[in-house]
Amino acid sequence: NNHLVIMAGGVGSRFWPMSTAEKPKQFIDVLGVGKTLLQLTVERFNKLVSPENIWVVTNQKYVDIVREQLPEMPAGNILCEPCRRNTAPCIAYVSWRIKSKDPKANIVVTPSDHIVMNVQEFQRVITECMNFTAESDAIVTLGMKPTRPETGYGYIQADLSASSLRNKGIFRVDSFREKPDLKTAEQYIKKNYYFWNAGIFIWNVSTIVNAFRIYQPKMNKIFEQMLPIYGTPQEQEAINEKFPQCENISVDYAIMEKAEEIFVCPADFGWSDLGTWGSLQTQSKRDIYGNALIGENISVFDTHNCMIHTTQEKKVVVQGLDGYIVAENNDTLLICKLSEEQRIKQFSGEN
Ligand code: GDD
Ligand code: MG
Repeated sequence: NNHLVIMAGGVGSRFWPMSTAEKPKQFIDVLGVGKTLLQLTVERFNKLVSPENIWVVTNQKYVDIVREQLPEMPAGNILCEPCRRNTAPCIAYVSWRIKSKDPKANIVVTPSDHIVMNVQEFQRVITECMNFTAESDAIVTLGMKPTRPETGYGYIQADLSASSLRNKGIFRVDSFREKPDLKTAEQYIKKNYYFWNAGIFIWNVSTIVNAFRIYQPKMNKIFEQMLPIYGTPQEQEAINEKFPQCENISVDYAIMEKAEEIFVCPADFGWSDLGTWGSLQTQSKRDIYGNALIGENISVFDTHNCMIHTTQEKKVVVQGLDGYIVAENNDTLLICKLSEEQRIKQFSGEN
């Protein structure tokens, strides 16, 4: 059976002050469409996975928010982490949990903070990949064509030769490199065989569990040993006790950079990681001066290429700025150069 795993435990620290540790961006209607990013994520998969096979993994802080935003979800499908350990422990946990219920599960793992323009094409690509992993022990990634030397993404070096081609449009990967430095990223994007990792993974449950066994044996053991108690009232207690022992590491470093049998499906469905204010600016409707204005009551004069966001009915007036973020939420106002936005993590004092 097809399963969907939604990772929703990140804090979205570069999107401060809209995104806060109390309510991170995946639980916010960032695009102003009446649905939060988490709700949009579920919606994108509703034709592919039935509701009882959708799993959300999140921090205990956010369990109530998830319940409230996804009321149709079975309570037992929200997995709760007692502390933040990044995405590798999250995936190890949910994979073993799913295995305990459905040893033949075919799984797609997705972040909860992305936007996809062409949902139909997205669904077609995911279906192709799931058909492939239903039959083969492969780790499949989605490769996006890079448009800039972004250092916040993982890069996939594909082997595009005919002999590496598997099922329709799925190629063998030569190497995977998580978040390279700028110089390296600049080299990569000159070549047509490098892709951005979309952070969406497709595999069957045996493949991913085996990968953890090989590349993260300590972490794997923690979750494998709990096999008899998954789905019982003891599960949460055991997780609360053992989960903190996991290394704090993302799946990209823990598995993807190490694994041998990786594949990539180069895809084009209008994708963006809503990782930063700059990415929201790029995705939003802009005025003729390049300003993205999200909020009820914003006026700008002599202002260019700004990202301005308000959450309250406060009147915001900006004059004479070029290339700035102006963002306001609760009791906080941020004014920051767009080109320095990677530093917002430091400014927020939340980490
Ligand atoms: N449950 C849980 N627990 N989820 C988490 C945790 C955690 O501790 N940390 C992060 N997440 C969730 C986030 O909410 C997000 O939906 C997803 O996992 C990915 O985490 P990010 O922190 O946003 O990762 P990233 O953007 O730096 O990098 C990843 O995504 C890029 C594309 O968006 C990597 O996979 C890169 O290789 C990739 O290019
Ligand atoms: Mg991200």
